[in-house]
Amino acid sequence: MRAQAIALFREVFSRVPTHAASAPGRVNLIGDHTDYNGGPVLPMATMERTVAVVGPGEAGWLQIVSARDSVMQRLRWDGAVPGGWGGFVVGVMRELKGRNAAPPGACLAVASAVPVGAGLSSSAALAVSVARALAGLAGVTLPPAALVDVAHRAEHDHVGVRCGIMDQSISVRARAGHALLLECATGRYRHIPVRGRVLLVDTGVRHDLAASSYNERRAECEAALVALRHWEPGLALLADWPAARARSLRRMLKPPLLGRAMHVVTETDRTRTAAQRLSRGRLRDFGRLMNASHESCRRWFECSDPALDLVTRTARRAGAWGARLTGAGWGGAVLVLTGPALASAARERRMVTTITTAFRRAYGRDPTISVVQPGPGARRERVM
Ligand code: GLA
Repeated sequence: MRAQAIALFREVFSRVPTHAASAPGRVNLIGDHTDYNGGPVLPMATMERTVAVVGPGEAGWLQIVSARDSVMQRLRWDGAVPGGWGGFVVGVMRELKGRNAAPPGACLAVASAVPVGAGLSSSAALAVSVARALAGLAGVTLPPAALVDVAHRAEHDHVGVRCGIMDQSISVRARAGHALLLECATGRYRHIPVRGRVLLVDTGVRHDLAASSYNERRAECEAALVALRHWEPGLALLADWPAARARSLRRMLKPPLLGRAMHVVTETDRTRTAAQRLSRGRLRDFGRLMNASHESCRRWFECSDPALDLVTRTARRAGAWGARLTGAGWGGAVLVLTGPALASAARERRMVTTITTAFRRAYGRDPTISVVQPGPGARRERVM
């Protein structure tokens, strides 16, 4: 990716870039739709990364190009936020400006191995890599917390997807071979070694409405919190509702708010337990919690879809210890935790064949199946 981004930069801008940075995509082992409710998440970075290379440009302007389409765009970064990926770059530039970490203008080329729309957080990989490269061009090294904040605000405040902090946090803070347990209300985190083998099954299903469904869910969670404050005036966050009292939500909320709160409250508890199980190497328990999480996403949060349900069901029947959608949902990918019964390559191949066959029968095409290895976080890259 680095070589590709550099070659593109040279071709389009007829000179060499001066700074480069890369950042990974992510999968989330468990803890979805908890981050913006103040709960925990347990993501890990993928080996697939986005690389941004930059050089000085005309003050007030951004000239940007992506290896996806090689079309150069010229944008004023203090003007309207454009649609498409340029919106992220403009958002990042404005956030950097607010921290005295923006160059006056820039030329930028990106290349990415993170698939778009698969729920693997291509947007955070883009925002983090661009932020790190542009700050470098301005001669500033941002501390990790500031880098997370710049990338998060670019997406949340400027692009308008009201996301939580999970994706940007893992993209910045990931450690190879580890998952990250992040408590989103406090920002406290801990790296946990990932034992066990995780497969990623990309269903190829992409929903245009994912961003609007996401914002709608977030609004429903906020409405549930307001409603619950009628009984518990001191309740600060939806994730603070004790899991032991989840059943009592039925008396206080009606659908769809009941379902949204049920998911957030139980998922918060599951994620903390799952992190404990993972650190003790109790993978069978971990897999059960993944299954329960998928069921909660499906039934209560209604963010699954038939393709995701088919893959999780088939994987479990084929002997997986756990399977769940990963990320926001509404299409995208499933994570499969393979148990030791599948430790031999032949058995794993059989499971892959079973999933592929079932999927092909239902959808007339194959899903993309790969092994996920937890990769490292954002870093500076060489430009030569
Ligand atoms: C998207 C958002 C994250 C998080 C997940 C769901 O990836 O960007 O902040 O809310 O969805 O867990």
